[in-house]
Amino acid sequence: MSASLAVAGLPEIAVLGTGGTIAGTATGDPSLPGYTAGVLGIGELLHKIPSLSQWTRIHAEQVANIDSKDMDGALWSRLAGRVAHWLEQPQVVGCVVTHGTDTLEETAYFLHLVHRSDKPVVLTAAMRPATALDADGPQNLLDALRVAADPQARGLGAVCVLHGRIHAARDVAKISTHAVDAFGSSEHGALGELIGPRVRLWRRPDAEPGAPFAVPAASQWPRVDIVLSHAGADGSVVRALLADPDPPALRGLVVAGTGGGTVHARLDAALQQAKAQGVRVEVASRVGPLRGDAFDGLSAVKLRVRMQLELAAVQQPNAPPLV
Ligand code: SIN
Repeated sequence: MSASLAVAGLPEIAVLGTGGTIAGTATGDPSLPGYTAGVLGIGELLHKIPSLSQWTRIHAEQVANIDSKDMDGALWSRLAGRVAHWLEQPQVVGCVVTHGTDTLEETAYFLHLVHRSDKPVVLTAAMRPATALDADGPQNLLDALRVAADPQARGLGAVCVLHGRIHAARDVAKISTHAVDAFGSSEHGALGELIGPRVRLWRRPDAEPGAPFAVPAASQWPRVDIVLSHAGADGSVVRALLADPDPPALRGLVVAGTGGGTVHARLDAALQQAKAQGVRVEVASRVGPLRGDAFDGLSAVKLRVRMQLELAAVQQPNAPPLV
């Protein structure tokens, strides 16, 4: 479904809704927790923002309406296709995606790695449901639209705009389960900020080795799992994954290691067995971004996204990109 709130001659922005708390409603007291994510449509979220039609023309499309804990590769393929479709329209200057906060950083990094346009993709979310007295969604959505329309955002790829700050897809992570200011950009810091309607950029994101990647077809996402190293980690999870009779077969494992990427000796033995069976194994840290390795700065969840795209490219080396 796509709808246009049209005023001719203004910068055009595509706004794609996928759900999350930003589209969530609470049934009881709106100041209390207890709500359902992904209820309101993208048109309803846009109508909460005053004066939009005075400075932009919006193309609104509902791609999904889910709690982002349930995000998966098939929906990522569809979302990337719709983003590419809108960015190919000459009159569209950028794309905004509304999303849940829980997997926002994974979707952002995926869209960044497959991005083929000079125009920006700006993801935003909210910590409070749309029906809360002090909902943060409308301001975040307005800020995301301002960034998408700003010429400085050209060439940024996919970024996240939350609580007045602009975060790089590679660096952004949810760091609080409850604060309104719930996102950070590790030691690198945010890319910039919004001061009222003004966008200030302090730095630009680093280039991503190997990007842009092709978008896997919905049914062609390689299976990659994440295992955690911890006291007593004995590798039984890895052995169970290797023995799992249900296709698709395991293609890769990302280990969220301890400290600087160390792994319990017994888990390591099982990982060696996985490698011997052709499973690709890479190590991140459960503490935060690892320094100085090939995947500098990638959390386990983002390393998983990158590995899936790399494995999909090996799987179908001559497949044309879907976007
Ligand atoms: C979700 O990720 O969809 C629910 C939580 C949120 O958006 O804050």
